[in-house]
This record gives sequence, structure tokens and C-alpha cells, in this order.
Amino acid sequence: MSTGTSTREPVTAAAAGTWKLGDLTVNRVGFGAMRLTQHGEAFANDAAPSDRGQAIGLLRRAVELGVNHLDTAAFYFSPLRSANELINRALAPYSEDLVITTKVGPSRSPSGEFLPHATPAQLRGQVEENLRQLGRDHLDVVNLRIIGTDSIAERFGALAELRTAGLIRQLGLSNVHPHHLAEAQAIAPVVCVQNRYGIGIRPDHDEFLRDCGRQGIAFVPFYSIAGTGGQAGTSGEASEEVLAIARAHGVSGAQVRIAWTLHRGPHVLAIPGTGNPAHLVANVAAGALRLGEDELAVLDGLHQRGA
Ligand SMILES: NC(=O)c1ccc[n+]([C@@H]2O[C@H](COP(=O)([O-])OP(=O)(O)OC[C@H]3O[C@@H](n4cnc5c(N)ncnc54)[C@H](OP(=O)(O)O)[C@@H]3O)[C@@H](O)[C@H]2O)c1
Repeated sequence: MSTGTSTREPVTAAAAGTWKLGDLTVNRVGFGAMRLTQHGEAFANDAAPSDRGQAIGLLRRAVELGVNHLDTAAFYFSPLRSANELINRALAPYSEDLVITTKVGPSRSPSGEFLPHATPAQLRGQVEENLRQLGRDHLDVVNLRIIGTDSIAERFGALAELRTAGLIRQLGLSNVHPHHLAEAQAIAPVVCVQNRYGIGIRPDHDEFLRDCGRQGIAFVPFYSIAGTGGQAGTSGEASEEVLAIARAHGVSGAQVRIAWTLHRGPHVLAIPGTGNPAHLVANVAAGALRLGEDELAVLDGLHQRGA
């Protein structure tokens, strides 16, 4: 496959096929906007803001490469940059096939401290904040992001009302356990579950991932490249098994990590995040990487060991 760095035509985001989030069709390789607003660790108080022109150019390049599924949030901001504002500046007026997924639940004060999670009443304000920043009159997909195991019925019910009112097209969940999905589905349809997952990350969620597939719900992993680095980002280190498979295909370890998630099922959507234009091209190209059965067995073993 092309790593996206050759002079040949780059691979596009359609290479891994498409999936339907309810009535919204997306290419399986999308883009996560959390890394766009700063250099280094996300949400760091002393973060150096990203270069505005580069961030806008990167979003436009993503769309040129066929990316039509963006993941964002109003709380993705650094001292000088807002992911939603960058998306608006780069891509409005939005093309019909672009699906912007945002998430509500957490919020941050203007100076960046995380605030207690939103009450049902505050969720409407967060939806409106996303509408204003993105410059839209409705949101394509809104994920309710939670922390903990408590009931989500009241909060998800508040979002379901906004969906009925036409402010939201489709609903999803983030950072949830299987019982939350069942609870939400009793209230309104759920089109996606966005959880932390990747090689060695949460093998205990494998069954949840498969269950989403059986129900036609997208499973959208985050930190599938960053792994245990989480919001600090990738450490640049990769296991020898991942690197050996990467070398065999002439790609990077990050590309193998993305491709492995896509091999978990046709309902798995990638939203790799980067502020680096070369990484963007490589991440999209990972959708064309086909791993052999023997390679998948090695990576699955690594995954089960929690590497
Ligand atoms: N729902 C939630 O709770 C939640 C939480 C976290 C994230 N998210 C969403 O999920 C998206 C994905 O997560 P993420 O952006 O943190 O993690 P990620 O995609 O797993 O990895 C991003 C990290 O890997 C690096 N990277 C990206 N592409 C690379 C490549 N080809 N080669 C080498 N390094 C590469 C990035 O640095 P460079 O910038 O230098 O490339 C960054 O450090 C986010 O952007 C966000 O939209 C959701």
C-alpha cells in the first residue's frame, strides 16, 4: 500500500468503505479534532496554540482526502484556538455529505479548567454553544459523554428531546459501559458508541464492540494511536510485534494501530487525531492497509496481553 508519502495519488478515506450513522453515510476513516488546537498535550493550561493557517489547511486537506466524518467538541480549545471555530472557518459552507459529530457532557471554563459534568438543563446550552461555534442550525451527531457508571436516563432524555425538536439529527454515547447503551436505547435510537480502545487498550471491551456491531451501532475508538499516552499523545514507542508488521507493509506503527481497529468489524470507525499534515495523509492511507490472518493473530495476542 501507499504510506501516503509517495508521489502517487494519495489513498482516500473511502478505502476502508463506508458506514451509516442512522441516515448519515460516512467513510470509515474520519478525523478527530482534539489535537488541532495546540502543540503537545491536549487540555494543558500552558499549551502552545497551534498555527491557525496550518490547522485550517489540515482540515481542508482532510476533506480533500475524502474525510467526511469529523469528531469535535466545544471543550476542544487552547488559549487561542477553538476546534469548532477552526472547522467553521475551514469548511463552511459545509458540503452536504460532511458529518460533524460533537460531544456534550463535560465543559471547561473560559480559562480551561474542567467543570462538573452538565446537568440535563445545561446540556441544551452546550448543544447551542456547538451550534453557534459551528455556524449550523442543527448538529449531525451528538454524543453524550459521561464519567462513571450512574444512570444516564435523565441526561440522555434531555438530548432526545432536542433531537425531537430538530436541533440534533442522531445521538451517540461516549465513555460508556454496556448497561448505558441499553438504558439509552429505551429512550431514543443510538447510532454510535465512542470509547477508548486500541491494541492493548481495553480488551475487556471486545464483547461490547462486537455487540455494537450486532446491533448496527458504530463503535468509534479514541486513543487508538496514542494508547496509554492518552491526552498526552503518543510516546512514539511501539511494540516490536507492531513494528515488525509495519515494516513488512512499508508503513508506520501508527498506521498498523489504525488498521487493526478497522479490522475489528465493518462498524468500527477511525477518528485519528493529528496536527501534522503528513500524519493526516498517513492516517487516511491506513484505511487501505489489509492485514493478514497471521498478522491479526499476532496483534490480537498483543491486545489480549494489554500491551
Ligand atoms: N470521547 C472522548 O472522551 C474522547 C477522548 C479523547 C479523544 N476523543 C476524540 O478522539 C480523537 C482521536 O484521539 P486522539 O487524537 O487523542 O488520539 P490518537 O488519534 O490515538 O493519537 C493522537 C496522537 O498520535 C499522534 N499521531 C497521530 N497520527 C500519527 C502518525 N501517523 N504517526 C505518528 N504519530 C501520530 C498525534 O501527534 P501529532 O499531532 O504529532 O500527529 C497524537 O500525539 C480525538 O482527536 C478526539 O476527537 C474523544
